[in-house]
This record gives sequence, structure tokens and C-alpha cells, in this order.
Amino acid sequence: MGKGRVKTEYVCQSCGYSSIKWLGRCPGCESWNSFAEEPLYRPSSALQTRTFIGDEPSSPSPLTHVESAPQSRYPTGIEELDRVLGGGMVPGGVVLVGGDPGIGKSTLLLQAMGEVAKRGKRVLYVSGEESARQIRMRAERLGVTEENLLVWTEILAERITEKIKHLRPFCVVVDSVQTLYSSSFSSSPGSVTQVREVTALLVSTVKSLEIPLFLVGHVTKDGSIAGPRILEHMVDTVLYFEGSSGHTYRVLRAVKNRYGSVMEIGVFEMADRGLKEVRNPSEIFLAERPEESSGSAVTASLEGTRVVLVEIQALVSPSYLGMPRRTVVGLDPSRVALIGAVLEKKAGIRILNHDIFVKVAGGLRVEEPAVDLAVVASLASNFLDKPIPRDTLLFGEVGLAGEVRGVTHSKQRINEAEKLGFKRCILAEDSLKTLKASGTTLEGVKTVKEAIDVLFG
Ligand code: TYD
Ligand code: MG
Repeated sequence: MGKGRVKTEYVCQSCGYSSIKWLGRCPGCESWNSFAEEPLYRPSSALQTRTFIGDEPSSPSPLTHVESAPQSRYPTGIEELDRVLGGGMVPGGVVLVGGDPGIGKSTLLLQAMGEVAKRGKRVLYVSGEESARQIRMRAERLGVTEENLLVWTEILAERITEKIKHLRPFCVVVDSVQTLYSSSFSSSPGSVTQVREVTALLVSTVKSLEIPLFLVGHVTKDGSIAGPRILEHMVDTVLYFEGSSGHTYRVLRAVKNRYGSVMEIGVFEMADRGLKEVRNPSEIFLAERPEESSGSAVTASLEGTRVVLVEIQALVSPSYLGMPRRTVVGLDPSRVALIGAVLEKKAGIRILNHDIFVKVAGGLRVEEPAVDLAVVASLASNFLDKPIPRDTLLFGEVGLAGEVRGVTHSKQRINEAEKLGFKRCILAEDSLKTLKASGTTLEGVKTVKEAIDVLFG
């Protein structure tokens, strides 16, 4: 390489793997055709000199001498968001908010900033995507008209960090990280080098000033935040805003949280005046339940500290394919496969040579084993073409021997169902021991076979 030429490297645009030559397939994340030429990455001098967290370099000290003041939190005022954050914003805490275009990231953060500003705090909303006028129009639609909410269209990262240092806002939103660039590099906004550098600059600035920062990030088709995976390591919290097109509600979920649980979800509905918090998600997820239809079963899934009732739908039809089809949406496909095998071997429901479709109605994703029993019931119900009574709730984990196992928080699950008018609950017999009589008829079962007998026998 001749003198004076800018040294370059090839960087995988999906995971940040770098190589001196172009590669067809990334050894890091195995994606194809993901390498692009970028100037050789060296953290800018601004970042090199800052090798400590906080204002001063420090030296090791005994753990017992470290101050243990509880982490202070400031709620955004949007309860569903605060819940997912683990109680609110944390000074210097950096939150990455990802999600498909149009899902409502900007809307959510603008509403949140409106709430904070309403309480007299000066907040800064930096947008590299929309003009100040567009933001104003959106804000008007959302009813956000606060003097304390400063909006600014800017994409040069150094200018943004300077402004943050100068203004010292209470908190900052940067929308989106892929639109910004740093003057230390010639590569274009959105490239791995830029995203990494811009994030590093912003993170170091807000950490030293103890200002909470929300970064919006675009998401690629496969669901990861566009840009290097390391972006997720550079921030404290990663939230995903998801929902299916055609549905108006949205689920906010933490996939990483240094300051709280990653189990909590926040549920919103996109209305014509912005996002509305959904305080009782069960109602929404059960709203469009079909009447007297076979293949529909309702279960109670624990999402963080909250129980959410969801409908599991199954369709089983004879297959004309050598390898019957298995389509699963919203659940772990391997669990559904396991349950299919258990039904076949342990309950005499011969479904393995059928096409099987299972989905969680409403586009929610559930991962708890407690939903197993409802999967069993929905498959059997559709196979036998016998509907499950509308007032019946099912929950319990299913094991390979066809046994139904107890799950935690039975009482809480039943309470939630009672609120929505459920009268009967089928659960693991084991769980009965810990439950006191209530208004709901509880029917304990030991095996999958028993459950099917109780339901359709
Ligand atoms: P937006 O917040 O711009 O999404 P993102 O920042 O994630 O790309 O949301 C845009 C969508 O939300 C758009 O399709 C219009 C819809 N929307 C409403 O339905 N009601 C509203 O009040 C607002 C502001 C947006
Ligand atoms: Mg946006």
C-alpha cells in the first residue's frame, strides 16, 4: 500500500468482524456478502484518552469502601416503558431502542420526552431522520407541546456531544444512531465504523455527565439491530419494539438490561393520537377469540411480574406430503414438535402424519413452559374437532413421559383469568396442593391423557 493512501479493511456489516481482504462469507456470523470496505478503524483520539468511567481516573479500592447508594431512577411517566426499563431512567444509562421502521419508536420516545418535559425537566430530542417541522407536527398530534422539549436536527456526532455538554439536558434521545456520523471517519453513516464510533462518543459523553440517553436503532430483516453486534454490548439496555403489521398493538421487550429484569413486557396500542398504554393486555389478546371453534385454548403466561392470558390456536389436517408440514408462530417450534410426539405416543392422538400449524393469537411471543398444556389442548381439540369451553383456562408444563408438571405462580394466573370471567381451570395435580378454594373450579391432571379425557371425554 503506497504512502498517503488511506488504509482500509473489510468489515462485516452485520457483526463487525474485520478482515484485511474481502470475504464472501463472514467467519464471525456466517452471513453471506456482508463485507464492505471501510477505513481502518482506530478509536478516535477523543475516545483513546478516556479510559475510565466517570470524570476522574480512579485506582482500585476495597469493595467495602465503595459507596453503595441505591441506583437512582427517574420514571419517564409512561408506566409500560418504565416497567420494561426496570423502574425508569438511570443517570448515564444508555438504552438502545430497536424495532422495524414504522413500528413507533420515534412516537414512543417523543411521548416519553413530553412526559418528562411536562414535569419541568429540559430534555433534548435529536433527530437525524426528520425535520424539526415534521417532529413538531407529530408532537402536535400527540398533544406534546412543552417548552422544555428541545428538538434539533443534526447528524454530526461531535456537534451533538458538544451540545449535550453545553446544554446539560436532563435526558437525551438520539433518533437514529444509523443516521449519524463522526468527522473522524470518511465512511458513510450507518456503516459499522460510523455506528461504533458515534455510539462510543455518545456513550462516553452521557456517562461522564450522568445523563440518560435513548438511542434509536434500525433493525434488519432477521431482527437484529443493523450495525455491529458490539453496539448491543456498548449500551446498558436493549429494548425491542415489536408488533405485527395489521395489528395495532405493540410489545416492548428488554433483551438486555443492566438495571433490571429482561422478563418484563410493556404493551401499547397505536391509536390516532399516539401510543396508548395497555394496562390489561389479557383483554386485548383475547379480544378476537372465535366463538365455539375447535383448536383454540387459553393459557396464562407469566411475563415478568405480570400474568398475560393468551390464546393458542392449532390447525391439524391430514398431510399429503412425505414430510408433513410444521408451522409454528409465537412459540418454540421444538416444544411443539415434542408435544406432538407426546400426544401421539402417550395419548393416542395420532397427529404425526398430519400437517400441524400452531400460533399464539395476536402476534405475541411466549416462551414459558407453562403454555404446554394449552398447546396439547388446542392440538387435540382441533384434531378431534371438539371446541374447548370458552370459560376454561389451561396451564402446566408437559414432560416427555406425558406427565403434566406444576408451574410457579398458579394463584396469580388463576386470579387473572377470574378477572376475565373464566370459571374453570385445568392444571397439574401437583399445583392443587398449594391452592386454596376459590371461585374457579380447579381440575388437577397428572398426564396429558387425563387432560384430554377431562376436556373431551
Ligand atoms: P414512528 O414512531 O414514526 O415509527 P418508527 O420511528 O419506529 O419508524 O411511527 C410511525 C407509524 O405510526 C406510522 O405508520 C403512523 C403511525 N402513527 C399512528 O398511527 N398514530 C400516531 O399518532 C402517530 C404519531 C403515528
Ligand atoms: Mg422514527
